[in-house]
Amino acid sequence: MFEIRLIVRTAHLLAAAAWVGGLFRRMVNICVGVLLLSGAYLMFDRLTTTSLGWPYLTVLGIKIIAALGMFVLAIYLGQSNIRRLAKRTSRFSKAAPQLMLALGILVFLLGALLNGMFEATLAPT
Ligand code: HEM
Repeated sequence: MFEIRLIVRTAHLLAAAAWVGGLFRRMVNICVGVLLLSGAYLMFDRLTTTSLGWPYLTVLGIKIIAALGMFVLAIYLGQSNIRRLAKRTSRFSKAAPQLMLALGILVFLLGALLNGMFEATLAPT
């Protein structure tokens, strides 16, 4: 249904912007939950609506792997206070926030690219 699709898409975009933009630090868990659920819905919707070729599937695969990397990093960063207390700062723990932002921008751009590819398949030829 068109309306549900629009609501889920908006939720996905808002959660992505809020998370990558670093807004609402306390809402990270909600953002991640919304992104996973709406992402799964969008994926199912896209793959059943029209026939998308391997370029779409490849980009989607990279996006999902990068998004999973972000989720793992978010869990890691959530524990970093304990690590800091334990004085176990490593090069990785210092680079983690930047890596997270870089992945966030990448996933955001890949999402926009996917949307462009999807809409191109709908355009009348
Ligand atoms: C495993 C988790 C995720 C899955 C399965 C997923 C899946 C998807 C799918 C299928 C689309 C639709 C592309 C299209 O229109 O054809 C999409 C769009 C998008 N995704 Fe995700 N996504 C996930 C996580 C994320 C994360 C973490 C971010 C942000 C950092 C993000 C940002 C976006 C953006 C910006 C769009 C474009 C939305 C639009 O133009 O309507 N996604 N995603």
